[in-house]
Amino acid sequence: QWGDEGKGKLVDMLSQKSDIIVRFQGGNNAGHTIKVSGQQTILHLIPSGILNPKAVCLIGNGVVLDPWVFLNEVDQLAASGIDVDSKRLGISYKTHLILPYHKLLDQVRETKKSASKIGTTGRGIGPCYEDKVARVGLRAADLTDRDLVLAKITRALEEKNILFSNLYGQKPLDPNDVTEQVLAIAPRIIPYLTDVGARIDSAANQTILFEGAQGIHLDIDHGTYPFVTSSNTVASNAATGSGVGLGKIDQVLGIVKAYTTRVGAGAFPTELDDLDGEHLQKNGHEVGATTGRPRRCGWLDAVILKASVRLNSLTAIALTKVDVLQNLPIIKICTGYKYKGETLSYPPQFEGSLNDVTPIYEEWPGFTQDISQCLEYAKLPASVRKYIERLEDLLGVPVKYVSVGPDREQTIVR
Ligand code: GDP
Ligand code: IMO
Ligand code: MG
Repeated sequence: QWGDEGKGKLVDMLSQKSDIIVRFQGGNNAGHTIKVSGQQTILHLIPSGILNPKAVCLIGNGVVLDPWVFLNEVDQLAASGIDVDSKRLGISYKTHLILPYHKLLDQVRETKKSASKIGTTGRGIGPCYEDKVARVGLRAADLTDRDLVLAKITRALEEKNILFSNLYGQKPLDPNDVTEQVLAIAPRIIPYLTDVGARIDSAANQTILFEGAQGIHLDIDHGTYPFVTSSNTVASNAATGSGVGLGKIDQVLGIVKAYTTRVGAGAFPTELDDLDGEHLQKNGHEVGATTGRPRRCGWLDAVILKASVRLNSLTAIALTKVDVLQNLPIIKICTGYKYKGETLSYPPQFEGSLNDVTPIYEEWPGFTQDISQCLEYAKLPASVRKYIERLEDLLGVPVKYVSVGPDREQTIVR
């Protein structure tokens, strides 16, 4: 969908049966919440498998890594007794680094844009990917070469300082200052450098879990452009973003929220502006794990999900936050769109056209029982099972996991 589906929860749960967990795109724009026996951990960069002491967690080349945020996360985990030694945590040599000027550029651009704001997380994600594609980015391996760090930062700031001072009314940044800041933390990052692709390749007979961030409809190519993030969030990027071939991937699990949410701007056909929307927002505690912004809420959109199934070759679905639907008298699923007099079963392709669709809804009876402690599919209320089975029909993909609460244990496996 558009992020925050409960990926952190599912990855943590599945990591108990995985040997290696790899993040392959995005950066600390993500906020992944894990709850174990009531204790909550929010991760932005480190893979959500880190709480499983036996798993190795790797950050792939497709990620953009803010080294200060990474170290902060390492320190916080270490303080709560989690092993974050470089034997079980690694960063690809090729991972691009988010530097202070990326963050500043992200923030001043958004401030200036006002009406056309994307509502980015302000973490410097877009500007860092821009530098990667422009072939001027600083990669993690460069931290071992002081001269290269200075040369690259100097070059990047030649252009960026013109933007800062001429367009955005900011003070230019001094390349020597930025270089000093980077070199000061380099000794703590360097021990984590590793060849992620080779580590995965040498893990014969092991289970590798690739963890995506954001949502499919925030994908730079396939999402609701331009209201998207700056990376490919689709499953195929798991290969590119970690340095392995497609042959390494044999199952693709889509994490789907039982309704829809979105943070930031952009089209949202099933968005609700009524008491049902308020119910989802309040009951689902729908507040951004990264920026603290309230999330926009709406009904489940099977049109959007059909596109997700197709874009990812989903082999199964984990349906999350089903418990949040409790006490809604009627639950709706959008099964098609009316658009310019036609009925569509896939999203229209023109920029902004998703703003002009009218959702076609099916209505399903709600439920009043508390299902948050239910651990058996057969014990779920009949109306919940019908809703789930209708979704399977619409999407042609089995719902393998049903999540009924934030805790690792609150999961039904079918
Ligand atoms: P992610 O970005 O996909 O990892 O999702 P977030 O962590 O940003 O947002 C999901 C939120 O829903 C978190 O607060 C989770 O603790 C919570 N959550 C996950 N699964 C469930 C569930 O089945 N029921 C409820 N009530 N909360 C859930
Ligand atoms: P997780 O992994 C929800 C959204 C931002 C904004 C757009 C671009 O927790 O699901 P960016 O900072 O990436 O340039 O912002 O993308 N966005 C997310 N929304 N969950 C996320 O991550 C998101 N990461 C980015 O709100 O609309
Ligand atoms: Mg999130």
